[in-house]
Order: sequence, then structure tokens, then C-alpha cells
Amino acid sequence: MIPRKFVKPAAAAVAFAGIMLAGMLSSSPRVRATDDDDDRKESKVEQGFDIAPVHLNLEGKNRKLVGLGSYLVNTGVCNECHTSGPAITQFMPGGNPFFGQPKMINSATYLGGGRDFGAPAPGAAHIISRNLTPDKTGMPEGGHTFSEFVQIMRTGVDLDHLHPTCAPGVVNTGCIPAPFRGDLLQTMPWPAMGDLTDHDLRAIYEYLSAIPCVAGPPAPSPLHNDCF
Ligand code: HEC
Repeated sequence: MIPRKFVKPAAAAVAFAGIMLAGMLSSSPRVRATDDDDDRKESKVEQGFDIAPVHLNLEGKNRKLVGLGSYLVNTGVCNECHTSGPAITQFMPGGNPFFGQPKMINSATYLGGGRDFGAPAPGAAHIISRNLTPDKTGMPEGGHTFSEFVQIMRTGVDLDHLHPTCAPGVVNTGCIPAPFRGDLLQTMPWPAMGDLTDHDLRAIYEYLSAIPCVAGPPAPSPLHNDCF
């Protein structure tokens, strides 16, 4: 058997020639691969605009981010939980796919929040989805900044402190008992959504800034949004 170290130089020369050849042959396919990537992103953006169920305000917004954000929000399940009122209000009368009807999203309740998921323990605070639409500041979900939004999505922190942890031995409708952590969002799938890339979170935020404001119930309800 020939010792490996004697084979190496020859093998390396062949490999080098191969790399050069491959490099020459693949220069155009490589360019095409990059274009494919861009095309794929571009089609998500266009698909996002095609499926947006509400009028979008693109003024001062990054169009590509809004389109990608629409794609992520509307093929994801945000509105499933963040519709205002019971789940049935998510669709227009006659537009409920679960009834076998052609899908028509109800723009009046779109991402307005308010769906009640009940209490995590008997007698405790109900977990209710939040209003994600922009208020008069133009910032979504109750005027949170992008860095707050990233923090919420990555860590689940409840910056609005709507349901603190109950004191030991006390349970009432204003708190949630251990082992649930009152300072963390419950039900909201942040443990999964927190793994989205910064770019995708940016796109979701940009999209949520472009959708119409839903005023929700009057103040001081935490679901209320000042639209004007
Ligand atoms: C399974 C239901 C569900 C889904 C799906 C869901 N959410 Fe939520 N979300 C909730 C609930 C419930 C709350 C409030 C939790 C609480 O009060 O503990 C919430 C809270 C939030 C908050 C905090 C709002 C604030 O003002 O601090 C943000 C932001 C949010 N959701 C964004 C999203 C986005 C964006 C999507 C889709 C990508 C999404 N959610 C999908 C149920 C859901």
C-alpha cells in the first residue's frame, strides 16, 4: 500500500484543477442561484400583498418589509388569536372557510385583540389577546417601539403588566397564580415565534404599522387604541 502522504500532492493537484474547472463552469449557475434566492424573497413580498385582507398604509414604510410581514402574519396564525371578540368574528358572514365558504377576513376585527382564552387556574385573571393594530402614533400594538417588540417576541415579557403573579395563597381575577409567571405573556406562542430572524420580526413590525387602527372597546380597557 502506498503511504498516504505520497499520494497527497498528486491528489491535491487533481483536486485543485477540479476546483478551477468547477469554478469556471459554475460561474454562471452561481449567479443564477443568487437570483433564485432574490426571486423567492420577492415572491413572498408579492404574495404578502396579494393576501393582505386590509388596506395598507405604505407612507414612509419599506414596501418589501411590509409585503414580507404580510406574508408572515397572514400565512401564520396571528389573526387566529388576535381577532377582536370570539373566533367566529374573524370571518365575514358567508366567508367562513370552516363552514365550507370562500374565505373573507373581517377587517373590522382584524388583529384588534380581545379573544378570551379563559383563566389558567380557577378564579384567576383571563388571558385575553391584545390589540396589535397601530394607534395614532403609527406604532403598532399599543405604541410599542421596534426594540420593545423584539424584546416581547424573544422573551415573552409583558411590558403592560396586565396580570401580575398572585401573592401566595391568594387567587383573584386580577392575577395568575404560580407556577405561571405573571410577568410573562401566556398562551401567546412567543417560545416558538421568538426564533424568527431579526429581519422577519422587522417585517412583521413594519406590516403591523401599515394596517388600519382598530379602536376596540372604550378606555380604560387595555384593548383600546386611540386611532386619531
Ligand atoms: C395561540 C394564540 C396566539 C397566536 C397564534 C398569536 N398570539 Fe400574540 N398573544 C396572544 C395572547 C393570548 C396574548 C396576551 C397574553 C397575556 O395576556 O398573557 C398575546 C400577546 C401578544 C403581544 C403582546 C402585546 C403587547 O401589547 O405587549 C404581541 C406583540 C403579540 N401577541 C404578537 C403576535 C404576533 C405578531 C403573532 C403572529 C406572528 C401572534 N401574536 C400570534 C395569543 C396569540
